[in-house]
Amino acid sequence: MTTITRAARSGFGSGLGGTVARTLSIPEPAWHLRDPARPGISGRNSDDAGPVDDGAGLSAAPSLPMGRVRASLTYTLREGDVIFGASERYGDVFRSEFAGGPGRIVMLSNPAHIASLMSRPDGAPSATRFSPLRPIVGPDSVLTSVGPRHKQQRGLLLPQFHGRAVAAYQQRIDAATARRIDEWQPGERVALADIGQQITLDVIMSAVFGIDDEAGATRAERAVRSSMIRLLHLSTHPLATVVQLVNARSPEPRGALKMVLRPLDRAIYAVIAERRREGADGPDGGGRSDILTVLMAARGDDGAPLADSEIRDELLTLVLAGHETTSNSVAWTFERLTRNPEVYRRAVLAAREDDEEAYLEALINESMRSRPVVPIVARELLSDWRFGDYVVDRGVVALISILLLHHREELYPRPYAFDPERFLGVKPSPQKLMPFGGGSRRCLGAGLAMAELRVVVTQILQRVDLAMTDAPAEQPRHRNVTMIPGRGGLVTALSRD
Ligand code: HEM
Repeated sequence: MTTITRAARSGFGSGLGGTVARTLSIPEPAWHLRDPARPGISGRNSDDAGPVDDGAGLSAAPSLPMGRVRASLTYTLREGDVIFGASERYGDVFRSEFAGGPGRIVMLSNPAHIASLMSRPDGAPSATRFSPLRPIVGPDSVLTSVGPRHKQQRGLLLPQFHGRAVAAYQQRIDAATARRIDEWQPGERVALADIGQQITLDVIMSAVFGIDDEAGATRAERAVRSSMIRLLHLSTHPLATVVQLVNARSPEPRGALKMVLRPLDRAIYAVIAERRREGADGPDGGGRSDILTVLMAARGDDGAPLADSEIRDELLTLVLAGHETTSNSVAWTFERLTRNPEVYRRAVLAAREDDEEAYLEALINESMRSRPVVPIVARELLSDWRFGDYVVDRGVVALISILLLHHREELYPRPYAFDPERFLGVKPSPQKLMPFGGGSRRCLGAGLAMAELRVVVTQILQRVDLAMTDAPAEQPRHRNVTMIPGRGGLVTALSRD
C-alpha cells in the first residue's frame, strides 16, 4: 500500500510506474509505450447484442480478479493499462466492481455491442448521474439530464452548434489562434494544452457570452472569465482527483469545489441580471446572437422561461465540456507529431504548400483515434443485456471504451502506430471512430471542436517550426472524464513567422 501511495503522488516516473504495475499486476510496458508494430487487441466474441428477457444459455462475463477497493485504486492510477491488460486476457467483455462511482461495471469495445447500446437510449440511457461534472453543473443540464428534459435541452442548444452557427464562429477562432501564436517566442518550450486552453476559452466565452474582447467587457463579464479560469485551474491541480473523490456521487459541490464555484456563480448571475436589464437588443441596440441570449429567450413546453439557475447550469456545461477536451486534443496532436518526424514533415507540407485539407483532416482523426481525450462513455443498463456469449444484469453500468475500440486490430491494423494515412480518402464510420461518443448523446459541440482543431493545428503547422523529440511518449493522465497528456503536450518552437 505504501508503494502505491508514494508512486501515485510522484506522478509515475517510469521507474515508479513499473513499481505500481508490478505491485498491482498490470502488464508492462505501459500501453502508450508499445511498439508501433505490435498488433492491436482482438475481439473473441460474437457480435450478437441487445436486451434479453432470458439469458438462458449465456454465461456471466469474466470478472477482474480483484476486490472493489483494489479495482478502484488500480483503475484510478493506471486506467489505460488496466483495460488494455484485461482485454488481452479476457476478451472484449469483462466486468469489475468499484468501491465508489458507478459500482458494478462491464467494459465493452466490440462495435456491434456498442451499437446495441447507442441505438437504444431508452433501454440504456447515459449514466450521467455518476458524471464527475454533475456536482459542478447540476443535475438538469444537457450533459447531466436524461429522458424528456435532456431532449428538450438538446433541442434548444443544437442549432447553436450546427454548420451555419459554427461557420459564424470561424473568424473568432482564427483571431484567437493568431493572437496566441503571436505571443509564442522562438526557442520557448510550451505545453500546448495551455495555449489550446487560452484559445478555446476565448472562443467559448465569445460563443456563450458574446464576450469578444476583454476591453469591451463589463465588470461582471470579466469576473465570469477570471472565476472560470480559477475553476479550470482547480481541475488541472495535482489534487484534482481528491476534489473529485470528495464530490463523487454528491449532487451538491463540496469542499474546495464549493469555494471556487461561489464567486463564479455570483458572477454568472450578475451577467444574467445585466442582460435582463438590457434586453435582447444589447447595449448598442444591435442585437445579440450569443448562446446566453438564446437561453434567455427560450420558453419551456409550459411557456415559462428558464430559471436563472437553469441558464447557469447550461452555460457552465458548455464552457466545461468544450474547453479541456479541445485544448488537450490539440496537445495530443503535437505530442504525437513531435515523436513522428516523417508524419510531421508531411503535415507541414500539407499545411504550408499543398493546402491539403484532406491530409489535415486525416491527421486530426488519427490523433483522436490514438489518443481519444474522452476515453470512455457510460450507459446504464435498464434490463439484462446480451453481449456476445455473455449476459450482463440490469443495473450494471456499461463503460464503452473508446480507447480500446480505437485499438482493435481488425478495425485499425497496427493501431499503436501513428499513421494519418489510414484515414486518407476514407470517411470514418461513426461505429468505428468515436471520439465524440454516439447516438442521441453524441457530443453537441463536435462541429465546433473540429472547426477549432482544424484552425489551431493548421496555423501552428504553418507558422511555427517545432523541434522533434526522442523523449518517451507522454504518460496519459486520467482526470475527471478526460485522458490528457501528462506533460501537457510539451513542445519547443525552433522559430516562428
Ligand atoms: C475535441 C473536443 C471534444 C471531444 C473529444 C468531446 C467529446 C465528447 C464526448 C465523448 C461526449 C459524450 C458523448 C456520449 O455520451 O456518447 C461529449 C458530450 C458533450 N459535449 Fe463534447 N467533446 C469535445 C468538445 C466539445 C465542445 C467544443 C462542446 C461545446 C461547446 C462540447 C459540448 C458537449 C456537450 C454539451 C455534451 C453533452 C451532450 C449530451 O449529453 O446530449 N464538447 N463530448
